[in-house]
Amino acid sequence: MNPEKNEEKTNSKKEAVFQSVRGMHDILPKDGAAWMDMWNVGREISELHDFTFMETPILETLGLFEAGVGKMTDIVEKEMFVFKTRGKEDVALRPECTAPIMRSFLQNHLGHFASPLKVFYAGPMFRYERPQAGRYRQFHQWGFEIIGDGDPFYDAEIVLATLHFLSALGLKELRVKINTVGCRVCRPTYQKKLLQHYKANKKELCKDCARRYEENPLRLLDCKAQECRELLSGAPIILDHLCQACNAHLRQVLEFLENNMVLYEPDPHLVRGLDYYSRTVFEVVASDKPETALAGGGRYDYLAEFLGAGRNVPGVGVSIGIERVLEYAASKKLSIGRKDRPSIFFVVVGEEAKKKGLYLIQKLRLARVRTLESVGKKSLENQMRAANKAKAKFVFIFGQRECFEETIIMRNMDSGAQETIPLSRMVEEVKKRLR
Ligand code: HAM
Repeated sequence: MNPEKNEEKTNSKKEAVFQSVRGMHDILPKDGAAWMDMWNVGREISELHDFTFMETPILETLGLFEAGVGKMTDIVEKEMFVFKTRGKEDVALRPECTAPIMRSFLQNHLGHFASPLKVFYAGPMFRYERPQAGRYRQFHQWGFEIIGDGDPFYDAEIVLATLHFLSALGLKELRVKINTVGCRVCRPTYQKKLLQHYKANKKELCKDCARRYEENPLRLLDCKAQECRELLSGAPIILDHLCQACNAHLRQVLEFLENNMVLYEPDPHLVRGLDYYSRTVFEVVASDKPETALAGGGRYDYLAEFLGAGRNVPGVGVSIGIERVLEYAASKKLSIGRKDRPSIFFVVVGEEAKKKGLYLIQKLRLARVRTLESVGKKSLENQMRAANKAKAKFVFIFGQRECFEETIIMRNMDSGAQETIPLSRMVEEVKKRLR
């Protein structure tokens, strides 16, 4: 029996004892390139659109989300990871990042530095939802927020930045579902009309909507329960009840989108599950998978006030669901994260060559030449097989003889041509051939 293999077996048994928490996943090396690609695309798009990076803590006070997202929302009521710290503070793992960004905006007086402030963030969010495909308890969002200007120009810019991000990742045929949820002036009148519509059939609403009827009637519109969907027909739509200012705002947003050839779809039942929205709300979906939102956002002009600012600070933003985007891209076999061919695979044969080899490998890497190796495989044949598998452009072979003669063999993996070059010219010769 091979003792090494035996040890491996015991170890893997041991390793299997602990599992990740339900609904929370590792990002495995096989997906690493796609994630890196996504970060790179995100950084590039953020820079092009002039969004600056900012980060808030993963843990916030519970009250921030109760006040910002809304106590009666599913997110706050049912989905947050909440606990008490040793100092008896009630805290929550952030379920989203817009309220934290606004908290930081107010706390750090960020309005003094730019108007509007345009920021992006990327990182994990936490919601205690029932795990299923595209729905996790820890997931990642890339977000854009523009704070300090209520102009519809910025609502449109948020939509355009989102589409730019997704199309730069190779996603096609995206649709923007868009609606407005009005403002303090027109929303109450609309809510009254909505309640009148549902009043006669109140008893037929699902359990959640029976509660929403009292506390948050707009959410009756996007309930997925069959019984509630049936009651939807004939319900009044907010577009017929908007005040003049909200009407003009919506019209201007749509005009901006039309001028940019954005295919949008008015959806009068889109209300979104967070209470901070006012006026524009939107979601981006793929045409062939319209039931899954890849991104969602909208305007939140009252959020600052909800957080106790004592004044309105207009804001608009979006969050893109990274797992959903990558899963959709994978289902379409899009080439996100397909690696470039490595430049060099460095093969060492013998202990002496290995000792010197690391110095040479580091020299190549310091000269910004991507260099792979698999010295653990020991034999020349096994290392050459690994080089083939990695599809390296060139292989350097460094054995006892080369070590002694201060040379190295360079093999072109496409043509099979092989040459011996002095070590002193190694980097120079590689760079010449890679040009
Ligand atoms: P949200 O619609 O709750 O909005 O989330 C945005 C996106 O995050 C969704 O469209 C989806 O792609 C992804 N997502 C949400 N929940 C999950 C989950 N459990 N598993 C996987 N992906 C998920 C917000 O979070 C707002 N902060 C958006 C915003 C920014 N509004 C204004 N600014």
